[in-house]
Amino acid sequence: MKEIKRHTITAALPYANGPLHIGHIAGAYLPADIHVRNLRQRGKEVLFICGSDEHGAAITIRALKEGTTPRAIVDKYHALMDRAFREFGIRFDIYDRTSSDLHRETSQAFFLKLLENGAFSVQEEQQYYDEEAKQFLADRYIMGTCPTCGNPDAYGDQCERCGSALSPKDLIDPRSTLSGAKPVLKPTQHWYLRMDEAQQWVERWMNTGELDGAMHHDPREWKASVLGQCNSWLKDGLRPRAMTRDLDWGVPVPLPDARGKVLYVWLDAPIGYISATKRWAKDHNADWEKWWKAEDTRLIHFIGKDNIVFHAIIFPILLKLHGGFVLPQNVPANEFLNLEGRKISTSRNWAVWLHEYLERWPGRQDELRYCLGTILPEQKDSEFTWKDFQEKNNNELVAIIGNFVQRVFVLCHKYYGGRAPGAGAATGQDLALWSTVHASAEEVARHIDHFRFRDALASAMNVARAGNKYLSDHEPWKLEKTDPERTRTILANSLNVAAVLSIVLEPFLPHTAEKLRRMLGLGDLPWAHAFRSDLIGEGQELGKPEHLFKPITDAEIQPEIDRLHANAPQGQEQGQQAAPVAKSEHRSAEAGGSGVVSAKATIAFDDFAKLDLRVGTIVAAERVPKADKLLKLAIDIGEAVPRTVVSGIAAHYAPEQLAGQQVVLVANLEPRKMRGVESQGMVLMAEDAGGRLVFVQPRDAVGPGGEVR
Ligand code: 2FM
Ligand code: ZN
Repeated sequence: MKEIKRHTITAALPYANGPLHIGHIAGAYLPADIHVRNLRQRGKEVLFICGSDEHGAAITIRALKEGTTPRAIVDKYHALMDRAFREFGIRFDIYDRTSSDLHRETSQAFFLKLLENGAFSVQEEQQYYDEEAKQFLADRYIMGTCPTCGNPDAYGDQCERCGSALSPKDLIDPRSTLSGAKPVLKPTQHWYLRMDEAQQWVERWMNTGELDGAMHHDPREWKASVLGQCNSWLKDGLRPRAMTRDLDWGVPVPLPDARGKVLYVWLDAPIGYISATKRWAKDHNADWEKWWKAEDTRLIHFIGKDNIVFHAIIFPILLKLHGGFVLPQNVPANEFLNLEGRKISTSRNWAVWLHEYLERWPGRQDELRYCLGTILPEQKDSEFTWKDFQEKNNNELVAIIGNFVQRVFVLCHKYYGGRAPGAGAATGQDLALWSTVHASAEEVARHIDHFRFRDALASAMNVARAGNKYLSDHEPWKLEKTDPERTRTILANSLNVAAVLSIVLEPFLPHTAEKLRRMLGLGDLPWAHAFRSDLIGEGQELGKPEHLFKPITDAEIQPEIDRLHANAPQGQEQGQQAAPVAKSEHRSAEAGGSGVVSAKATIAFDDFAKLDLRVGTIVAAERVPKADKLLKLAIDIGEAVPRTVVSGIAAHYAPEQLAGQQVVLVANLEPRKMRGVESQGMVLMAEDAGGRLVFVQPRDAVGPGGEVR
């Protein structure tokens, strides 16, 4: 393998169709930022690239839903994400966007070069076309009945009820989501990437590390999950894949016979890494090519597991077929982060949004960076809970880092007027302290090099732990009276441990590291200084003792948990009137380990007694026009006329399944209009961990109007 001279580090370009949440951060951006910060500390030449992915059906669908244009959507979310990344301390060299002219030119030139190199076959196929909207329909624009489970609202690429992967032609009774019209099949042609021809070299490259007769990377460094997913694809055999789409939003295919076609978003998005590099180079009067073409460049893609094959198979094929580019040396994909026992879901608003966190917890970036750093889903899915966030803040940040630094500074101010004491002769205990500190620092870098960021963070914390133990073992606050000389040495050593701490924490907690450097009167220090014990000279003036972290109280945490539940899932897209009451995710908090955690604040019995809950029977059900998720139900609760209730359960039940079902109705809920229909109550639903809603109902039949208490 070639000696590495520079590192091109990319983090997945997030779709500009919504804000960032903590799952994105833990999946790709935090690990990438930690890696990059440490490389920079070690004096490496690094370029850290990201930007907004502004094309694809995800954007046009969002625009349609919000009744606006794709341009307005991408402008809004690009700005939001850019700001959130900056504020959170994810320090890209460039955060670009794929709707730029430079990106269009770069992707079109890339496509033409692929074409010239024989990378494509052109195939004609029958594709659904909406004659009213006058356009071909992307898979997500077609809905119909799932051939597997009968769900009438399955999408052209997937049924969300049974999980089947579908293609639009599998749907029974397809309809266009643009106009509601029945789409017709029309011939269209697309440019297919001959992935089949790459099968052999990809298999070999990935599994042995060999490329064109030379060693390219060490496959033992790749995560088993990444190799596993890719090999299962390879086992099925690579097939040609369409690289063009009939859409009016994207990079136009630069060919006269491809009017109305754009590049497939998964062709243009990864090229976005290259165009962002060009943008950066233009802005900095630098050369872009060496970052992509020089043999001694190490290219690493940080992504989440849903992007694996695109970065580890398809993009490498594109780069190689184009020619002249290096291939990724590693694709350290993370698994998923769950939230309070459930999968994070944008559409159900089950998420902690980064920009909202930054607003609600101003100046507390590192608290979240720390918590996420300890639970990065590196090997398997992991889970964020607000309780865990609170406990890690209180028991680790406050109790370990904060406590150590605070004690050292308070004592130095008390005994030496805020000036650093000088160390006397070292004892065996001092040498033991330094050997632990330096070994921990060494481990930090080693773990980071191998993409083990959780372990790296734990090693960095061991520096603070060692400092704390040293103080507790020697109790300088007692020793001062009897042995002031030894006390000076202990505090001088402790200050120097704090200085090393400011270096090893920098990749993980950059805001805290900076504060600590300021308190110590230090500037940016290179990584090599983490192996010294004399960074603070005798007499150096120290800043005031400052609390690096504050304890977080239950009163601050509970509203976060309440918010989450109040906003999801029935509050938003599920339709207001289906309330999960028996959530399987209200289980014990694993990290807290302290029994069952109720997700909502306790209420008085009187509050509960205000609810008028009644058993009812559904007598009729129909869809609500133009509302995919809603059904209009007529429910008999023993009144003269059945109640009309609008319920967000259309994705879970077909109307014809419902007559005769017993349900529990919140009968005294304030009536509310939804899509022009007045809903006179709310049906209680239970939700399982997979997000499926089922009716809450009495085990034995109860007459209409029976009270539930
Ligand atoms: O999954 C996603 O969010 C995609 N927008 C990632 C693209 S990564 C790269 F190819 F740009
Ligand atoms: Zn299905």
